[in-house]
Amino acid sequence: MNQEATPKTAKLSFGDKVLDLPVMVGSEGEVAIDIRQLRAKTGAITYDPGLGNTGSCTSKITFLDGEQGILRYSGYSIEDLAKQSSFVEVMWLLLHQQLPSAAQLAQFTQEITYHTMLHEDLKHLFSSLPKTGHPMAVCAAAVGALSTFYQKNVGSPADNNWGDSVRLLAKMPTIAAYSYKHGIGQPFMYPRNDLGYAANILHMMFGTPCERYEPNPVLARALDLLLILHADHEQNCSTSTVRTVGSSGANLFASVSAGISALWGPLHGGANQEVIEMLMSIRDGKRSAVEFMDLAKKKDSGVRLMGFGHRVYKNFDPRALILKKACDDVLGQLGRQDPLLDIAKELEQIALHDDYFVSRKLYPNVDFYSGIIYKALGIPVEMFTVFFAIGRMPGWIAQWLEYKKDPEAKITRPRQVFVGANQRAYRAVETR
Ligand code: CMC
Repeated sequence: MNQEATPKTAKLSFGDKVLDLPVMVGSEGEVAIDIRQLRAKTGAITYDPGLGNTGSCTSKITFLDGEQGILRYSGYSIEDLAKQSSFVEVMWLLLHQQLPSAAQLAQFTQEITYHTMLHEDLKHLFSSLPKTGHPMAVCAAAVGALSTFYQKNVGSPADNNWGDSVRLLAKMPTIAAYSYKHGIGQPFMYPRNDLGYAANILHMMFGTPCERYEPNPVLARALDLLLILHADHEQNCSTSTVRTVGSSGANLFASVSAGISALWGPLHGGANQEVIEMLMSIRDGKRSAVEFMDLAKKKDSGVRLMGFGHRVYKNFDPRALILKKACDDVLGQLGRQDPLLDIAKELEQIALHDDYFVSRKLYPNVDFYSGIIYKALGIPVEMFTVFFAIGRMPGWIAQWLEYKKDPEAKITRPRQVFVGANQRAYRAVETR
């Protein structure tokens, strides 16, 4: 429907009431029926489990068209940003909804670089946790704990949260690398200010105090690309979580810590770990690709083709297209081959010609190919979702800040349709 033809109101009749509900049209033509008066005027609420038909906010940060496979950060296509931008520049873009000038980028890079160290006392938090614990749990704890180190601005309405935003962006890689080093019993590596954002992450992950580690620029660029692709994805599960927690007035660190926990789940960011484990199980002969696909189609098997399907993308995920090509590029530049890439391509081909996947519009999502690049970088499987979290950090922060400035924002508090027991008399335990 073109914008002029879009009705200004939607008529809803309910019993003897007829309501003219205002219609909103977004800058890309997406249409929403504003139901804020619905309950007050009719007594009824809407029912939308998973909120697939519900707009929870307006936003200027990211545009996504799932039918056409379009993803743009503040108007810039993900393809252009992947090719020409850097993760640090994308951070600024998401936070300000415009590209920085050269001077702004230099200043911001300086700020990010000089806040990378963690308070020495925070190290004890890592060593108090079991080495076998999942690093996502460790990161959620450490990010939440930042609010105990930076109490000054927490909750202060006068604060614009810039300092805390910079700290989170700067310290997340250090927290991530410490969660890994703690798990393998190696000393924590301090950040190096002479390195770029991605190269510094590789240094903190793989360096040791015994010898100097020089990050390979091919790997650093590949990591930067992954981080750009993960930087924001409008109102996904973890971002909605960050906004929801923030809506209660909780501070930025607490809100983002909750976002990390939401991202951990296998239906969300945790899928990247599951994908590589699935590919390895096929490589190791536990099941053939065809057997695996048959299982994924059986509802009672409990098996899904991980890295496939998306709530919003019903055609293709543009990030997956970029990553599929990047897998070939990165492995080629490193002069390596990975049988997992061949298995992934085989699974994709089977799915593209199988009615089950085609009819349900299930295509590879961002997590399908990202793990192959993480693996080429030497990132251990259990750290994959942590790297997703490093990438998603600017999106979470930008969305949280946008929420804070939104005059229409309210505490998130959905309703429910109660289907439990009606009122009944309490009976003492001995009479039951
Ligand atoms: N393998 C097999 N069947 C699937 C898959 C899959 N990966 N995904 C969806 N289906 C089926 C599902 O069983 C359902 O079938 P039917 O209509 O017969 O009941 C239909 O497709 C629709 O699925 P849904 O679960 O109702 O769709 P949703 O929009 O609620 O879920 C999803 C989206 C991403 C959770 C789901 O596709 C999925 O579980 N994918 C695998 C996990 C994954 O890769 N997650 C990463 C998502 S992208 C990155 C991110 O957000 O972090």
